[in-house]
Amino acid sequence: PRDALDSKSESVPTIDISRLKGSDDERRGVIQEIRLACQSFGFFQIVNHGIDQSILDDALAVAKGFFELPAKEKNKFMSNDVYAPVRYTTSLKDGLDKTQFWRIFLKHYAHPLHRWIHLWPQNPPEYRERIGKFCEEVRILSLEIMGAITESLGLGRDYLSSRMDENGMQVMAVNCYPPCPDPKTALGLPPHSDYSCITILLQNLTGLEIFDLTAHDGSGRWVHVPEVKGVLKVHIGDHVEVLSNGLYKSVIHKVTLNEEKTRISLASLHSLGMDDKMSVPCQL
Ligand code: OGA
Ligand code: NI
Repeated sequence: PRDALDSKSESVPTIDISRLKGSDDERRGVIQEIRLACQSFGFFQIVNHGIDQSILDDALAVAKGFFELPAKEKNKFMSNDVYAPVRYTTSLKDGLDKTQFWRIFLKHYAHPLHRWIHLWPQNPPEYRERIGKFCEEVRILSLEIMGAITESLGLGRDYLSSRMDENGMQVMAVNCYPPCPDPKTALGLPPHSDYSCITILLQNLTGLEIFDLTAHDGSGRWVHVPEVKGVLKVHIGDHVEVLSNGLYKSVIHKVTLNEEKTRISLASLHSLGMDDKMSVPCQL
């Protein structure tokens, strides 16, 4: 990460979303904060989101438990098929990428839960229950946030609700970044944006950096995202950038590494159904 030195720890937008359920004035206030965050960073953190700390802690712990299993157990899920409903792999794809990134991950479909959960790992024994609980709670949150986002675009809070609710897609990326002996020479994940409408991210340690397009008169700058317990991160993905006709930015982000500790993150990607197509509404 050549530009890591430019990263400074500083505040990124943090929004108390419990006010979405408050008075009309309170809701309007949150919608305005979301609009500003989506226009500038394409990223915000949420507090008072209503998910119990124990659900977050249990999900991170059981995810870590999966990566600590013997290779033989994890390899049952190994696949290079990006459409496989459950897939365990590294960031080295088919030998096509020249660079290997310091990440192993498990990715699986998560909605509708009953359709996929029986394909998920049975080890650790609590994996399905704990990750399942986390997926359900995060999905409810994603619908609430998407309603606020479409409202902030003047489309109303139900503009996408049916297409994201029963027909929507949720993919859970369970990421593990082992300690790296020389973190300055490698990255966990290269700079990218997510294809989703929004991604909701939970992490156990810092490492996430987002690109602030507006800094330095438009030449941009990497910003380190501090870790605060219980806070969830929301990434605007490519499909909301399309929906908003470019008004909202899909955030470019990357992951830097840690010399001593294993970093675990759970990224829940929320989108329209696989066969659905996002387009710009004529109002925009
Ligand atoms: C991702 C991602 C960030 C992280 O899975 O798309 O950006 O912190 N993850 O692991
Ligand atoms: Ni991402």
